[in-house]
Amino acid sequence: MAAWHRITAFSALLQVGLLLLLLSARSSGRPLEKCPGDKSCQPPRPPVVLIPGDLGNQLEAKLDKPSVVHYICYKKTDSFFTLWLNLELLVPVAIDCWIDNIRLIYNRTTHSTSSPPGVDVRVPGFGQTYSLEYLDPSKRSVGMYFFTIVQALVEWGYTRDDDVRGAPYDWRKAPNENKEYFLALQHMIEEMAEKAGGPVVLIAHSMGNMYTLYFLNQQPQAWKDRYIKAFVCLGPPWAGVAKTLRVLTSGDNNRIPVISPLKIRSQQRSAVSTSWLLPYAHTWPKDKVLVQTPTTNYTVQDYQRLYSDIGFEDGWLMRQDTEPLVTDLTPPGVAIHCLYGSGIDTSEAFQYTDKFPDVEPTVVYGDGDGTVNLMSAMQCKRWIGRQKQPVKLMELPGNEHVNMLLNFTTVAYIKRVLFSP
Ligand SMILES: *[C@@H]1O[C@H](CO)[C@@H](O)[C@H](O)[C@H]1NC(C)=O
Ligand SMILES: *[C@@H]1O[C@H](CO)[C@@H](O)[C@H](O)[C@H]1NC(C)=O
Ligand SMILES: *[C@@H]1O[C@H](CO)[C@@H](O)[C@H](O)[C@H]1NC(C)=O
Repeated sequence: MAAWHRITAFSALLQVGLLLLLLSARSSGRPLEKCPGDKSCQPPRPPVVLIPGDLGNQLEAKLDKPSVVHYICYKKTDSFFTLWLNLELLVPVAIDCWIDNIRLIYNRTTHSTSSPPGVDVRVPGFGQTYSLEYLDPSKRSVGMYFFTIVQALVEWGYTRDDDVRGAPYDWRKAPNENKEYFLALQHMIEEMAEKAGGPVVLIAHSMGNMYTLYFLNQQPQAWKDRYIKAFVCLGPPWAGVAKTLRVLTSGDNNRIPVISPLKIRSQQRSAVSTSWLLPYAHTWPKDKVLVQTPTTNYTVQDYQRLYSDIGFEDGWLMRQDTEPLVTDLTPPGVAIHCLYGSGIDTSEAFQYTDKFPDVEPTVVYGDGDGTVNLMSAMQCKRWIGRQKQPVKLMELPGNEHVNMLLNFTTVAYIKRVLFSP
């Protein structure tokens, strides 16, 4: 199990982490103010909502299955158990049971996904922080995620599950299949803002930024003016992530030797969010070869063919279902602070032999945070001058995608955002 204690392996596992609202009657666009005109009154500490990334919060499952893939697999459980992250389920053989429980089944008629028969998956802890502070409920350091940031907030006077709260979601899916989540998020933000007497700061990581952008794009400007003080974007994959191409093509065990890439591939393909995060044509050069085989070069313009050639036709439907969600990168209309790592080898292209797609590729590396390509993270620059609210970018050289959440520079930056007027 020594391999599990390599934080890097886990970090790499987290690759890529939002929200849809209707204007409520009480949103007048007038800013919330606790003590207008009273100079002795302290400005309120803004409440904080944390939106995690792909794989970035716990999931639980309860089983009552008609059949199992191996006799050691549980067919029925009396209660919900931790499906993610539970390292004990990721060892040989047990992983086959795990894959059969966490995978999604795509329906081509409804363009939506569901769990296999008899598998009930739920997201624990909405409105609380525990399910994203540590992914593994046993709190092994390998699963430490938002803990450092939440702990810092507590030291600055915040209270867990009160004025700092988490917004976990089913990260296997894209926003089109998470409508109730966005409604719950909207209500939580409104409730926190009303209670504090001031607007909320959103802090998202990785794919959570795409979710948050989607959410903000659905909100009227008056709602955002009233309820959102700032949006801190950590490691945002605005233009997708090249690494997803490898994940879909040949699977990615993130260098954890006990996991077979081809085995984990079936689960990774079934998660719609993987296809949502393929590189976007608005940023990637049209002629850049992303996947190369002895006979074919694939660019951002060749996804339909790629999905077909790797034998995953549903994937092309998933991509078409989800690509429009944030492809316009419409300005969020709130103050933006974009922080991203650089200077770490980050997958940029994959070269396959004639055993494609059932073989490990040779990887071509470029700049980024080890997961998100630098070019993708930097796309917040598009919003400079395109919205009246400020857009700030800060590159963090040497910061890896997940480890940036632990870095003092990141934490100090968040403190400035929270405690500046
Ligand atoms: C897909 O959804 C439709 C409409 O709900 C349903 O009739 C059909 O049986 C589903 N297909 C599969 C394969 O489950
Ligand atoms: C694929 O692109 C590379 C350059 O990136 C080129 O050398 C190679 O000949 C191309 N292969 C095919 C099959 O077009
Ligand atoms: C934290 O981030 C800063 C800025 O990128 C970097 O210089 C520093 O090395 C990082 N610290 C650690 C411990 O990674």
